[in-house]
Amino acid sequence: MLENNISKGVLVVPHSFKNIIGSIGLTPFYTNKDTSCILYNADCLNVMDSIPPNSIDMIFADPPYFLSNGGMSCHAGKRVSVDKGDWDKSKGIEETHKFNLEWLKRCQNILTKDGTIWVSGTSHVIFSIGFAMQQLGLKILNDIAWYKVNPPPNLCCRYFTHATETVLWAAKNKESKHYFNYPLMKKMNNNKQMQSLWSITAPKMEEKIYGKHPTQKPVTLLERIVLASTKEHDTILDPFAGSSTTGVASYRLGRRFIGIDSNKEYLELSIKRLNFEQRTKQDVRLEIQHIEKDMEKQLASVAS
Ligand SMILES: C[S@@+](CC[C@H](N)C(=O)[O-])C[C@H]1O[C@@H](n2cnc3c(N)ncnc32)[C@H](O)[C@@H]1O
Repeated sequence: MLENNISKGVLVVPHSFKNIIGSIGLTPFYTNKDTSCILYNADCLNVMDSIPPNSIDMIFADPPYFLSNGGMSCHAGKRVSVDKGDWDKSKGIEETHKFNLEWLKRCQNILTKDGTIWVSGTSHVIFSIGFAMQQLGLKILNDIAWYKVNPPPNLCCRYFTHATETVLWAAKNKESKHYFNYPLMKKMNNNKQMQSLWSITAPKMEEKIYGKHPTQKPVTLLERIVLASTKEHDTILDPFAGSSTTGVASYRLGRRFIGIDSNKEYLELSIKRLNFEQRTKQDVRLEIQHIEKDMEKQLASVAS
């Protein structure tokens, strides 16, 4: 254990979640009952500047794709203009790349020495992300092709249907000894080595009962990512949290979560989703206690 915490002759003391939150200094927008999920309504660059270096075990980032630029798409069988919000409007490829370098640089700094980062994106942004990762010296571990199984059709019929999104997985640097729960991934894949092609459908109806985010990710995708690359009680950060799909998966799986988003409305939606998860966990706990008490009573009556 001690050996694992010694990096280049320097003893690295792991940061507690409380200590990380304390360093941020900002008033959280939301904290759940057991203080395992914290949300900030702010620019992620500012928040990441105050997070201690080498403190976050895993980052999932779903940054703006910068594709709301007057194009057309298909939604519920209808032709609609692509307008996800001002946060998704492009300022040009150079500006996009500069922005990607800025937030990725901060992510790299706050990751623990063996920590990893996952970034999802379409062709609009993923090449810039990959290049920025290479420029910063992150070690790219995998490029996951997330196959969306039942994507909306391409209405203009001049392209193939866009059916995949890329999720890049990278370690802090070349020296990192990243964590990968290989046995679990194999088990989840009928005891065969899991490939980098993941077939996962779009978010289900029940994931949108409190409203929806225009680019909401499926919880199944985030659960797989969390299980593959973190241990229980690890600290996970999502700098572009949106509706906090990462938070939902982290909470369900007993990890700690810090989510940041510059849009209050999306965080209101996040709060509804996270409170629902909290109530569900509480109900399950109460149900288990109930069953245990019943069993104790039955055993006592058999023994008497
Ligand atoms: C692609 S969406 C993330 C969706 C999320 N993965 C989900 O499942 O709901 C990107 C989010 O980044 C937020 N955003 C954009 N620029 C930001 C910034 N500089 N700091 C923090 N959040 C930002 C937007 O408000 C938007 O909700």
